[in-house]
Amino acid sequence: MSLASATYPGLTFRQDYFADHAAWTALVSLLQDTFGIDLDPLRRLGGADPTSMPFGWFTDDGLLAANLSAFAMPIVVNGRAVNAAAFQSGAVRPPWRGLGLYRDLTRKALDWCARRGFEAVVLYTDKPALYEPYDFRPMPMHSYSGKAPALALGASPARHLDVWRPDDLMLLHTALKSRVPVSNVLAVHESAAMFLINTQFDPGVRLSWLEREKAVVAWKATPERFALIDVVAAEVPSLSAIMGALGVETASVDVLFCPDKLGWTGEAASLEGATRFLIRSATTTVLDAPAMLSPMADF
Ligand SMILES: CC(C)(COP(=O)(O)OP(=O)(O)OC[C@H]1O[C@@H](n2cnc3c(N)ncnc32)[C@H](O)[C@@H]1OP(=O)(O)O)[C@@H](O)C(=O)NCCC(=O)NCCS
Repeated sequence: MSLASATYPGLTFRQDYFADHAAWTALVSLLQDTFGIDLDPLRRLGGADPTSMPFGWFTDDGLLAANLSAFAMPIVVNGRAVNAAAFQSGAVRPPWRGLGLYRDLTRKALDWCARRGFEAVVLYTDKPALYEPYDFRPMPMHSYSGKAPALALGASPARHLDVWRPDDLMLLHTALKSRVPVSNVLAVHESAAMFLINTQFDPGVRLSWLEREKAVVAWKATPERFALIDVVAAEVPSLSAIMGALGVETASVDVLFCPDKLGWTGEAASLEGATRFLIRSATTTVLDAPAMLSPMADF
């Protein structure tokens, strides 16, 4: 869909434009210029989330002046499946800021969510004030830290996964399709596209395949600390089995989601940093336990 505008002369509104290669390239360029991130590898990792609905204002020569994308991101919250949408890629190029373009796109994206019957909308931002008028509220995020468990004995060694090897990418796609949420307190159901692009944003994240447990594990380690970032499996193995298969023997562990399925517990710590997780929902959402969405679900 495309619509020239009387309010914004020289700009044309378009939505659902990902199938147009030039328009996708214009979005990659907007995000590179605004946030310094490269979304383009996503094309070779299976493409954008199929539910994506981008809303954008384009100049006559094809530059994307302003964008906000929505996509379906089903999550589990306190054991209940929540039909949520997520907003991402919100940006306006400097020459077009202060004209109300972002307000316009936010309203259009929220209207789309209402028409589609999403019961919640979530986003990450370092500018929460931007979303207060639309009743988005912060949900505090917490990671967990504690002592490493005794490693499970007799584990078969894990294998390194490389998303750029076709067989490994296929295995990842299959695992992501049949995964269960990594936590019952707060987690995504699938979010395959986000998981795959997030492998590109942090080169320190390692991916391993645990054959016996049929689990993909996203993790990091220093000689002192092991960080468990996500587990993609039809049944989440224990932390002891995961560390046993990876053969990591650190004293301390950080888990970057609520560890209710890991057979381990640690102490919750509030997540530092300027970025906030916001939720807009008719029901107040107080989590049963401190939790966070895995960074592999970042969007
Ligand atoms: C933040 C940004 C998207 C705003 O775009 P914009 O088109 O200039 O915003 P608008 O003119 O539509 O203003 C919409 C509202 O947001 C407010 N606003 C604008 N920039 C803001 C900021 N940095 N912090 C808080 N509020 C802001 C405006 O005052 C306006 O409020 P109003 O509706 O009460 O009048 C744009 O400055 C940008 O791309 N910044 C860099 C990337 C970024 O931060 N993106 C948001 C990611 S979550």
